[in-house]
Amino acid sequence: METALAELIPASRIAPARLHDAMRYSTLGGGKRVRAMLVFAAGELAGAEARRLEIAAAAVEAIHAYSLIHDDLPCMDDDVLRRGKPTCHVEFDEATALLAGDALQSLAFQLLSEHGLADDPREQLRMIQLFSAACGARGMAGGQAIDLDAVGKALTLPELEHMHILKTGALIRASVLLGAHCGTGLAAGDFEHLDRYGKCVGLAFQVVDDILDEEGDSATLGKTAGKDRAASKPTYTSILGLPAAKRLASDLLAQAQEALAGFQDRSRRLAELADFIVQRRR
Ligand code: IPE
Ligand code: IPE
Ligand code: MG
Ligand code: MG
Ligand code: MG
Repeated sequence: METALAELIPASRIAPARLHDAMRYSTLGGGKRVRAMLVFAAGELAGAEARRLEIAAAAVEAIHAYSLIHDDLPCMDDDVLRRGKPTCHVEFDEATALLAGDALQSLAFQLLSEHGLADDPREQLRMIQLFSAACGARGMAGGQAIDLDAVGKALTLPELEHMHILKTGALIRASVLLGAHCGTGLAAGDFEHLDRYGKCVGLAFQVVDDILDEEGDSATLGKTAGKDRAASKPTYTSILGLPAAKRLASDLLAQAQEALAGFQDRSRRLAELADFIVQRRR
């Protein structure tokens, strides 16, 4: 993934060098690559070619890096630490960070449209459609808008779930489906099971992110711990408390594993990733 991203993001020696530097700074050399691994695991299940998956995973990681750069800006979470380094706007400047995010988002869609990812171009168009919907106003960007609007408010549990499903769940769910659509080995019913799996691990991911923000330390997380409480964000830990948030994460893990039951051993990697998403310490 690292090699693919290093090759696909414009080189620092190409002008505008500062923009390219910022894009590389925030995308390379860090991050757990969970979304990329989900693309690969779902793609493997569908018998997809490795190069297709590499492109799809690079697009997902580019979108994710863009979302983190913007999430850290002073107008959003105003964070100074990301992946163990100063955030993009601290290392560069706000305008460069904004543009690096913009350019990474465009790069993702350029990759998805420039490379052959499906045998039928109409299928590829549907893949880009599902992915763009997951990033936009009714997906990640919409979830971020709800998140900012929720500062200092006590959301109900369904409202909190809706926010998390959009801001973090949508991209994770789309990563699974994108990988699966790169192959031809799955039936329509299989996609329903994968979608269920993606929905559960996507929500679980943000529940655990909330737990780690409360319980983790900045050195392990590579980002500032305790930010949610300090910023009065409604989270699963602030609304349910830590023990119930942890129980919810385990319940979601069980539901995700249940969704994979029909694939038997073929979904082993997806099952391992679900475990990782819930058991991770960073
Ligand atoms: C952090 O995502 C932001 C959320 C959506 C919760 P990750 O925890 O996947 O961040 P990296 O890629 O590993 O840095
Ligand atoms: C970020 O959620 C979600 C997106 C970037 C879309 P958080 O604000 O909780 O992520 P961290 O904790 O800063 O990584
Ligand atoms: Mg945020
Ligand atoms: Mg944040
Ligand atoms: Mg967080």
